[in-house]
Amino acid sequence: MKLNLIYFSPTGGTKKTVEILSNTWDLEKNIIDISIPDKNYSTYSFSSDELCIIGVPSFGGRVPSVAIDHLKQMSSCNTPTILVATYGNRDYEDTLLELKDTAEECGFKIVAAIAAVTEHSIMNQFATGRPNEEDCCEILNLGKTIKDTLSKNLNLSNLKIPGNRPYREYNGVPLKPKTNKYCHKCGICASLCPANAIPKDNPNKTENTLCISCMRCISICPNSARSLSKLLLLPASQKMKKACSTPKKNELFIATI
Ligand SMILES: Cc1cc2nc3c(=O)[nH]c(=O)nc-3n(C[C@H](O)[C@H](O)[C@H](O)COP(=O)(O)O)c2cc1C
Repeated sequence: MKLNLIYFSPTGGTKKTVEILSNTWDLEKNIIDISIPDKNYSTYSFSSDELCIIGVPSFGGRVPSVAIDHLKQMSSCNTPTILVATYGNRDYEDTLLELKDTAEECGFKIVAAIAAVTEHSIMNQFATGRPNEEDCCEILNLGKTIKDTLSKNLNLSNLKIPGNRPYREYNGVPLKPKTNKYCHKCGICASLCPANAIPKDNPNKTENTLCISCMRCISICPNSARSLSKLLLLPASQKMKKACSTPKKNELFIATI
């Protein structure tokens, strides 16, 4: 049996969470990064004797549209699948529901879902350092619960998860990374931008209309040459303080027979 780890993780929090969860199973792992623009994902097809974990971060309580576009190219024949939505301690609203609907359309059989708190990738002062040691133990335990349930019966259905249809509206955030004088135009950010929003021939620019504010360019720049405007970030952080400050718990939703 093969375990496929399918994730969109611009700054690594989702990847880390999915990897921790995957340690529950002693299976051969196949990593599928769905953040590569222009990649043809339609070659991915999964069968019922494999297991999948699909992880995405919550952007405004929704699944990032790039991840949806790439997932929709894949196909599956009833592959037992666990969903993971990570979020920066505010809320994940319709993220799991949208992910479930999308994955089911592709033929995945959703048996469980986890909402996991991870450091906020825009406002790092919220959920700083999460998943921390305690989260890691908790996620492994959630994995064990899923594994035990699956070992008794693979024909689970009836998964109830939070969220509403129509999904909440999300039109992006007005925070777009800019470069400073330390940019050497090395092009690493341009080659790894999931939205093709950084011109490869002029990597000190950002195409704001394409940028999804995922923060990958800021997190990977070797010269710390990309950042957000503090003038915009400070008031936005103040606004989020109340909703983001009290630590939230990781949650498991599991299907029944
Ligand atoms: C554009 C954007 C929108 C976000 N919206 C939310 C949100 O609505 N609620 C929340 O709790 N966290 C939100 N976050 C935080 C991320 O969901 C969280 O940091 C996630 O772990 C990032 O995943 P990654 O490290 O795999 O990139 C947002 C982050 C970004 C970049």
